[in-house]
Formats: sequence, structure tokens, C-alpha cells
Amino acid sequence: MDQVKVTIDETTGSVPANSTILNAARLMGVDIPTLCDHPAIEPIGACRICLVEIEKQRALQPACTFQVSDGMVVHTESPRVVESRRFVLQLLFSERNHFCMFCQMSGSCELQDLAYRYGLDHWEYDRAFPKLSVDASREYFATDHNRCILCRRCVRACHTLVGNGTLGVKGRGVEAMIFADADVPLGESSCVSCGTCLQVCPTGALMDRASAFMGATDEIDRTKTTCTFCSVGCGAELITRDNRVIRVEGDWDAEPNHGLLCEIGRFGLLHETRRRVRRPLIRGEKGLAEASWDEALAGVAGPLRAAGDKTCVVISGLASTEAARAIVQGLPGEKALMEGALSGDGRSPLSVLDEADVCLVAKTDLTLNYQVAGFAIKRGAHHRGARVIVLDDRENGLDPWAFRKFAPEELSKAVAIAKDAQQPAIVYGPGGAALAAQLARALPRATLVGFPPGANSLGIASAGVSAPFVPNGAPVYYVLAAESEQVSDALLDALRWAEFVAVQACFREPWEDVAHVILPSPTAHEKNGTVTNREGRAGRVVAAATSGLPSEVEVIERLAALLG
Ligand code: SF4
Ligand code: SF4
Ligand code: SF4
Ligand code: FES
Repeated sequence: MDQVKVTIDETTGSVPANSTILNAARLMGVDIPTLCDHPAIEPIGACRICLVEIEKQRALQPACTFQVSDGMVVHTESPRVVESRRFVLQLLFSERNHFCMFCQMSGSCELQDLAYRYGLDHWEYDRAFPKLSVDASREYFATDHNRCILCRRCVRACHTLVGNGTLGVKGRGVEAMIFADADVPLGESSCVSCGTCLQVCPTGALMDRASAFMGATDEIDRTKTTCTFCSVGCGAELITRDNRVIRVEGDWDAEPNHGLLCEIGRFGLLHETRRRVRRPLIRGEKGLAEASWDEALAGVAGPLRAAGDKTCVVISGLASTEAARAIVQGLPGEKALMEGALSGDGRSPLSVLDEADVCLVAKTDLTLNYQVAGFAIKRGAHHRGARVIVLDDRENGLDPWAFRKFAPEELSKAVAIAKDAQQPAIVYGPGGAALAAQLARALPRATLVGFPPGANSLGIASAGVSAPFVPNGAPVYYVLAAESEQVSDALLDALRWAEFVAVQACFREPWEDVAHVILPSPTAHEKNGTVTNREGRAGRVVAAATSGLPSEVEVIERLAALLG
């Protein structure tokens, strides 16, 4: 790539010729403040906080949109620039209510940081402060229009990154407001609660119910980890304060999600309503009662020893590879995957969906599962005119994005549309694998993008367990459940009829009625390990908080030791 020489604040460096001044400054380690700009979203140059002085240019120019040229000399903190920034900030602070001391984001707000940086300690202009509404109709976060600076990061993130296009701006000037769809409350809108807008909002206008007032930037810790709730395997950051996870954010640097998360990955565990298991539970006459680890492990070892090879061990796809390996090495009996396995070869990278011109979605609802992949399909339909063909006999969340929808038996109609495509992709989860295989035979040039059930069925398979669970009349069951909630009726039935059932789980539900012993497990936010995503990429799961519980592996090893 062509390079040009630029001088920014007395430092001269060589940067790619197509850089904006802001990107060039970042490359050279110079900090230019921004508000409407966000590295993951196309810049629009709206807020004017990044204005810089360029030699031989009469007017100040926005660094986020102005391109560098060879020999350019830029001043980012000249008296003229600082005066302009103070003016922009004064306007922003007087347009709406930014009494920071009453704001839940005080201490972690980009607007407030800039006020400190440029020494704003009083209002220079009359404060208009219209009383604006707070929209608290969404479950996980609220929108306080009084704190909104109309930077439109949320609008652009929802449109460009998520492909959902829920948000817009209505009205002009001081009347301008963020709104959803046809101006409906956000909780009734097409919003899918992915929280991307929340993550990019620079102020307290979008407030996370779980982390509001919970901690300023310097009071929190960030831990990079991998989401363990589906096989997309998104990179996430856990935000903690005082050993408590208060927020989950997408990791902008991570493959394959590049900062995006879905509702489940971002909010699921923080808003979990099931009852946590913190002590081992043993079934007695009055139901499950707390017991010591020694009692509980001895209570499990006895039936497992007696059943030996007749034991059936069921491993959830949410479990780590290390826990699965410990089970394979230490526990007797047949081992099976709780959610089944995915047949077919669909390990192509998720980025295929950002290039495909036709996406055939086979009996899989990507708005319910593997949602971040669904965002890629929506982006394609919205921004590149990619044609989405849904093959499903049920309602599918991607129906509104579909160019055509067919019943699975109308496969030939879908093939007729896709056969001339340049880069067709066939997308499928476990329920659509057979249909995807049929489509692949008819469209040999299509790329298969498959989603195995569970987050880690590939990792668990590498530990030696790849058979799906099928009821086999085993008298004794050991279930490594982790956080699993969606359990098949076939498994629950088998457990109900078994003589003895031990479950290693984070929550009582849905095991309470079937388990004779429940051994508590740390959650995904509290454990270390590895998971392998659908592409075969190993991701590290890193504990951000301690639960005081032994790890899954430790429990299995203690049990294995008792079994000899
Ligand atoms: S939560 Fe996601 S879908 Fe909803 S408005 Fe924000 S970015 Fe859009
Ligand atoms: S809600 Fe936040 S991100 Fe959206 S325009 Fe307002 S301040 Fe910007
Ligand atoms: S798409 Fe899957 S891996 Fe990504 S955040 Fe959602 S549940 Fe987690
Ligand atoms: S950050 Fe450049 S104009 Fe807003």
C-alpha cells in the first residue's frame, strides 16, 4: 500500500496513503479525542470534537473523515483547536441534561472524560435542558434521551454491524431524537437485544441495567474470554468489579465476531433467573438437601462403581474440552453428547457470509441460535443486496430478510435461484443438516456453513466423545450439564426412569426433579478452559470472578480417584 509522510504534533511518520488523520494519529500514538467516531463504524464527521488544524488549510477539519496527504502538517492541540473543542463541549453540555453526578455512567463516559480533559467547570451558555423521556421498555438496558448527544453511533452500529436497522433519528436540530422503527417504544420494536448500540454509546444515554452505577473506568477490570453459549465462539470481555461480573462486552479484536455479541452471550448469565447451586445437593425424603462434598462424591461414586460400564455419561456441549477429557479418562460407561452432533462438513469461516451473494438457510433460525451469524446474513441482505433464501416449514426470524421462502420439499426452486450465484453459501444448524446435504449435492459450488449444537461439541469430540445421546436404558446416569437449560424430552425421560442420576450443574433447573445428587459447577464467567468453535478454532475461556467452587475437572478427578 502507498505510504505518505505526515507530521502530527511535531512527530513525522509514514502512514498508508488512504488513512484519515485520525487513523494516522492512532498509528503514530497521538490521541485525538472523538465522540461520533468509533473504530468499528464508518465515520460521519458529525460531532466536530476531533477538529484539527492543518497547515495551509484555512478551516479546522475533522480528523475522523479528512484524508492525509504527503507532507501534511497537523496540529491536534493548538490553541485554536482547543478553543473549538471547548466550544463544542459547551454546546453539548448545555443542549441536554448532563449533570454527571446523577448519571449512572459517571466515571466511564467519554463526554465527561472530555469535559475534564478540556477543563469545563461551568456552563457558558444558557441551558436549554428540554425534559426528554426515558425509554425503559427494553429488558436489559434503558434509553435516556436526556443524556444523548446524537452522535448516531447506536444508529450506525445497529444498521451497519448488526444489519438490524432498528434505530434512526427523527426531528431536526434541538428536536432531534433517536427512535425505533415507526416510532414505537424500543421494547416493542424490531430490536433483538444484542446490545451493540449499548456497547458503542459514548455517554449514559444507553444504560445497562446490570451495571448502572456499578463502577467507574478505574474501578473495573476487564478479562478477555470466549463465549461458551454457542458454536460461533465469539470473543468477549467480562467487566468485573469486586469479584462480580457486571457487564459483558464484545471483543472488537476477536474473530469471528469482531466485537458483536448476541442477547444470550451478552445478557444471558447476568440476567439468569434459575436458582444457582452453591453446595452439593443430595436427594433425601424431603427432596434435595445440602450436603458436604465428601458425602456427595461418595454418594455418586457408589452407584457409578456398581453400574460400571452400564453407566451412561452425558456431556453438554457447553462443557469445556478439559472437563470432557477428565470424564473420558476417569469415569466408566458409555459417553454421549447431550445436544447431539452435527453431520456434514461446514467448517468454513463465518466471513463467508459477508461475501456470499446467495445464502440458503436450511431449517435453522439464526435469530434464535448462532445469532451473530444471523447478523452477517442481515448485513449482506441490507448492504450488499445478497439474496437470502429461507428453506423452512416453520416461521423463521430471517423471513423478513428473505428474498424467497420455500418449504424444504421445494428445494429445487431454491436451487434454481442459487445455481447462477457467484458465491452461494448453505447455512445450517443441527436440524437442517440433512437438507443442507441435499442442497450441497445440487449446488456443488456452494460453501457449507454449519453450526454444531452446543458451544464445544468439536472440542468434546476431540476428547473422544462424539456420539449423540440416545436413550439406552442405562440404570445410572452422570450428566455434565454446565449451564444447560434446553434439554431434550428424551434425555429427561431417560433420567426420570433411571435408578440413579448425578448431575454436575450450575443451576437447579431443569435437574431438580430428576437428579439424586447435584454437584455445583462454576459458570462460564468463573471457569478456565478451552472450547473449540464451529470453525475448529480453539478459544480460551478465562475466569473473571471466583465462585469458591472446585472446577469441573477437579470434581471429576476427585470422583475418579474414589472410583479407583
Ligand atoms: S440492541 Fe442490537 S438490534 Fe437492538 S437497537 Fe441495539 S444494536 Fe439494534
Ligand atoms: S444513544 Fe448514545 S450512541 Fe446513540 S446517539 Fe445518543 S449518545 Fe450517541
Ligand atoms: S453468537 Fe454464540 S458465541 Fe456469539 S455471543 Fe451469541 S451465544 Fe455467544
Ligand atoms: S469524532 Fe470526528 S466529527 Fe465526531
